[in-house]
Amino acid sequence: PQRTLVILKPDAVRRGLTGEIIGRIERKADWSLAALELRTLDRATLEQHYAEHEGRPFYEPLVEFMASGPSVVMVVEGERVIEGVRALAGPTDPIAAAPGSVRGDFGTIVRENLIHASDSEESAEREMKIFFPSFA
Ligand code: GTP
Ligand code: MG
Repeated sequence: PQRTLVILKPDAVRRGLTGEIIGRIERKADWSLAALELRTLDRATLEQHYAEHEGRPFYEPLVEFMASGPSVVMVVEGERVIEGVRALAGPTDPIAAAPGSVRGDFGTIVRENLIHASDSEESAEREMKIFFPSFA
């Protein structure tokens, strides 16, 4: 089955939305949780994860925000799960995200957009190795 790396960001944990979001993922047919951990992400891990964005104006505040409290880091597996979790999350800007999506239902601020999900098979492999080196 396909696998993807999902992070429920510190805003989702602080706001008590992890159960709601995990519930949406779990209720999709034939998807399941393959790994799950509550973890405060350190700078070195985040620099690896967000390497593609280094140098962009939003990079520093993004890394700071992502290290600001615990996240829920997980691997989700199942049918077309990479595309599927991206669809469930909605587009990056929560105001542009349709109601019904996680970002559309709960977000307003671009940086604090609740959830990360791998955007391709290559990203999923790369990111699973960063967060669960013994797992992949
Ligand atoms: P992720 O699943 O978190 O990777 O989101 P994404 O793939 O929808 O967005 P992208 O990888 O382009 O950017 C990573 C994260 O950086 C986003 O989720 C936002 O939290 C933040 N971000 C991206 N673009 C902007 C921006 O223009 N302004 C700000 N403030 N934050 C941004
Ligand atoms: Mg991304």
